[in-house]
Amino acid sequence: MRYDIITIFPEFFESPLSVGNIKKARDKNLIEIETHDLRDWTTDKHRSVDDTPYGGGGGMLMKPEPLGAAIEAVKKPRAKSLVILTTPAGEKFNDRIARELASFEQIIVICGRYEGIDERVKELYVDREISLGDFVLTGGEYAACVIVDCVSRFVPGVLGNAESPENESFKYSLLEYPQYTRPESFKGKSVPGVLLSGNHNEIDTWRRKQSVERTYKKRPDLLDRAELTKEELKAIKELKSKSSHPFNLYIALVHYPVYNNRFTIITTAFTNLDVHDIARSGATYGIKKFFLVQPNPEQQQLIERVLSHWTDGRGASFNESRSSALALVRVKDSVGDVVSEIEKAHGKRPKIIVTDARFGDDMIGFEELREMIYKHEDDSYLLLFGTGWGLAKEIMDEADYTLKPVSGYTDYNHLSVRSAAAIVLDRLFSSEV
Ligand SMILES: C[S@@+](CC[C@H](N)C(=O)[O-])C[C@H]1O[C@@H](n2cnc3c(N)ncnc32)[C@H](O)[C@@H]1O
Repeated sequence: MRYDIITIFPEFFESPLSVGNIKKARDKNLIEIETHDLRDWTTDKHRSVDDTPYGGGGGMLMKPEPLGAAIEAVKKPRAKSLVILTTPAGEKFNDRIARELASFEQIIVICGRYEGIDERVKELYVDREISLGDFVLTGGEYAACVIVDCVSRFVPGVLGNAESPENESFKYSLLEYPQYTRPESFKGKSVPGVLLSGNHNEIDTWRRKQSVERTYKKRPDLLDRAELTKEELKAIKELKSKSSHPFNLYIALVHYPVYNNRFTIITTAFTNLDVHDIARSGATYGIKKFFLVQPNPEQQQLIERVLSHWTDGRGASFNESRSSALALVRVKDSVGDVVSEIEKAHGKRPKIIVTDARFGDDMIGFEELREMIYKHEDDSYLLLFGTGWGLAKEIMDEADYTLKPVSGYTDYNHLSVRSAAAIVLDRLFSSEV
């Protein structure tokens, strides 16, 4: 494997790529690393590599001519080569990409500086754009080092123990198990007994279980790609049943005050399907209670009759799982009553989040809300869904946050409230396994 790094700071690489495994691999000619000073391909007397961007704006851009000339000069015509641009706009670098890149014979890395490079260089020369993550570095040299280091680990012979990259984090889309070395006891903490047993089958089983559990707790998103055995899925199911919900989430379906299609405030009628489906979604994603806000006494009676059929009556024995979902439902006269009940249970007012099918100002995104809820486990949250043509302004105005509407890659925007509720809950609380 050969790396050609195009940079305005070749001296940057002297130390990081001259130590440890990378040094050994270079000494054994398993990998070759050549850094190229971009200024060698300039033609003016100041050796300039940057210029001002067309259209104005701050900062400078890397000129296309020296970059184009450098790439053309270093590219080996008969090698399986790849030109990589380091950029925050690229695909996020990971273990899978590193494995893919290790199959090339030559990798050319362009290290951006200033505000980046002229777009035409990307169009004409770049095969793959790679980012280290959602942050901005001062230069692509840092990213180039990371790429060279990670990719080289998958070049045969670079790591002392040929098996090492296979056992480490991410190989099976799992994090690595905990590891220990001597002494057996350190500050009162002992090495798990199974690792001292000498029984390799048991050790392998223990390690795999630890990997799965650790991934479930720390990076559940990785499990989406993991291939888990029945035993491992069972272990996760056990974990789920043992651990209490990490968040205090309540949802409410509001029948009053909501709008009709002429934007007059009305009370809508109970819909059996909505209550069943939202209760089932709520139970799946770990809500504490599902409130129906319905002030009409006749409607309340009807709802209670349906609920008692499923929670106490024949329905309860006919379908236990339905019964447990519907047991989460409570009927309330007003949103204020819902807030008071939650406040009583948690000692402080819940944060109220309203949902809206229309985009508006000052909305919170799913990722941001998810992060906030997971970070502030002691707070409670009330997620409000409207019926009819949506929640009335008086309810919207009382909310702490308005969640962005659910949307796909079309302009169709007419989800039923039960579908919207399921999607919102999934986006906020899905566990990937
Ligand atoms: C100051 S940055 C330019 C940022 C650019 N104006 C933008 O907003 O996307 C200079 C160079 O650092 C490198 N760089 C910055 N952040 C990076 C990241 N997250 N991953 C990979 N390279 C990055 C790129 O080579 C980039 O051209």
